[in-house]
Amino acid sequence: MDDLRGKVAFITGAASGIGLGLAHALAAEGMRIALADVRRDALQSAVRGLAAQGASALGVDLNVVDRAAWATAADRVARELGPVQVLCSNAGVNFVGPTQDATFEDWDFCLGVNLGGAINAVRTFAPRLIERGAGGHIVITASVSGLYTSGGSGCYVTSKFALVGLAESLRADLAPHGIGVSVLCPGPVKSDLFESTVAVRPQALGATGSVPVIPPGVRREDTPIFATALSGEEVGRRVVRGIRRNDLYILTHPEIRPVLEARAAALLASLPDEPVDPRRVAATEGLLDASLYAREAAKAPPR
Ligand SMILES: NC(=O)c1ccc[n+]([C@@H]2O[C@H](COP(=O)([O-])OP(=O)(O)OC[C@H]3O[C@@H](n4cnc5c(N)ncnc54)[C@H](O)[C@@H]3O)[C@@H](O)[C@H]2O)c1
Repeated sequence: MDDLRGKVAFITGAASGIGLGLAHALAAEGMRIALADVRRDALQSAVRGLAAQGASALGVDLNVVDRAAWATAADRVARELGPVQVLCSNAGVNFVGPTQDATFEDWDFCLGVNLGGAINAVRTFAPRLIERGAGGHIVITASVSGLYTSGGSGCYVTSKFALVGLAESLRADLAPHGIGVSVLCPGPVKSDLFESTVAVRPQALGATGSVPVIPPGVRREDTPIFATALSGEEVGRRVVRGIRRNDLYILTHPEIRPVLEARAAALLASLPDEPVDPRRVAATEGLLDASLYAREAAKAPPR
């Protein structure tokens, strides 16, 4: 999708961090922006910030797990801003702690927001985009944690791996409709993620098996990972480029290359050392179609 000017973007988790960076980057391209979030005060200040820069911005109070509220939100945005052509499913929560210690409540909450929220976004907007027949683009925010893990946050990693699968499947299925799909897999980005997760986790859920990422008494700004993290605006600009190029994967950190290579090598090394059975190849022909990946591999890397 090349021409973004005058079109409408709907972004979840837009009150801060990556979502707000996406909002600024897409507004800079002349898009009108619907910012959806569950933290009302942060959302209002995000909308004010965009409006102060001359952007057309609408705040939408939306909990992404609330299925009924999605249709209402989509209808309102269509009425007030126009039909949505770019959807960024970005709202998320993060948990850190040994996978086996995550409580049932941690699993339900994390998968509900991260994966369930994206499913609700797709179920709401994909049919609308198809019906309108004017193309469009969907960006799903996963993470580098959707591509590999070294342990320590199984809930989060499980949700993010699932989002990569969702985006890849959706891309194949929406391509015939002229709708692009990208999965954003950033490394560290400056954001409110750990604070917002605590703020939005319903008290009623009770016990959690997660641990604070930043030790008590340490300022987030003083941690090396935060100091070297990208800004949300920078990630937003990379997403604009990814939409224009219709990239399947939008990655931000070249430092992850050795881990991606090691994971791919581990998978290939795990294939049984046996001859390929041509009858099985013929029988599963459609299931062995690699064109989704081959097209991306043939592209020049983004600059
Ligand atoms: N910050 C990073 O280093 C990083 C890296 C990779 C991926 N991500 C992903 O980026 C996305 C955005 O996170 P961020 O880091 O910008 O943090 P953030 O806290 O700044 O933004 C997340 C937003 O999601 C909102 N949100 C949470 N639950 C919601 C719900 N149920 N309904 C509606 N909104 C809800 C929060 O209120 C918050 O505004 C997340 O999916 C996160 O997993 C972040």
